[in-house]
Amino acid sequence: MSDLLIRIAHFSDTHISSFGNFLEKYFDKTADAINRLDPAPDIVIHSGDLTDNGVLEDYEFAIEKLKSINGRLVLAPGNHDERNYGQELFKEMLGNLDREEHIGRLAVYIMNSPEPDRDEGRLGRRRQAFLEEKLSQLPKDIIKVIVFHHHLVPIPYAGRETNVLEDAGDILETVLRNSVSFVFMGHRHVSRVLRINQSILINAATTSSIRTRGRLGHSFNIVDIYSDNRINVIEYNTSLDKTFLKESFDMTQIV
Ligand SMILES: [Fe+2]
Ligand SMILES: [Fe+2]
Repeated sequence: MSDLLIRIAHFSDTHISSFGNFLEKYFDKTADAINRLDPAPDIVIHSGDLTDNGVLEDYEFAIEKLKSINGRLVLAPGNHDERNYGQELFKEMLGNLDREEHIGRLAVYIMNSPEPDRDEGRLGRRRQAFLEEKLSQLPKDIIKVIVFHHHLVPIPYAGRETNVLEDAGDILETVLRNSVSFVFMGHRHVSRVLRINQSILINAATTSSIRTRGRLGHSFNIVDIYSDNRINVIEYNTSLDKTFLKESFDMTQIV
């Protein structure tokens, strides 16, 4: 019998705003679903586009909405959060754009992939060197997690692919070389899970933007890590009120 050791909830692209693209009903459904998870998640990850326009009214509304979610929340900034000089509000109200958090056995590196007023994203050599240094020094029993907004590999159902992380090749190399267990991303509004060697790349769909794709709807992810190194990624679709076992992986060296 294997035990559930760690549970991660992952949501993204909430696009909170009073000015148009935010569907509050789906945010509230998501908050309620996360709060009802049993066992509760050890960490709740938001992978960017918290707000729709990056303006003060959006951030104030977002802070209010985030209060309805229980648990240890970590947020990465998205390109929408850095529109209209929003990166300064993010820093002031939510903390540094790049951050390192240690939560139980998880070492979480939150990286700022957007640049102000651009849709494209990159981590750049400075962040890559920082990650290489940090990741290579972690003890073996620590689970390595990276969070950023832009996607590291192309995502299906996205039409003509744009905005893959500009330095995706270099960052993917860092991820694989250091056996990073999880990379959490957003941006494309499509839920996607991909395993490469000992790394699992996870994109969340949009939580509450009107910009869903086809019939994919709104959803968030639950990642369960078991004592026998099995990883289950569950998609909780709030449009259908259903959960799906999206992927199940038997890893060799997660825990
Ligand atoms: Fe988005
Ligand atoms: Fe985005």
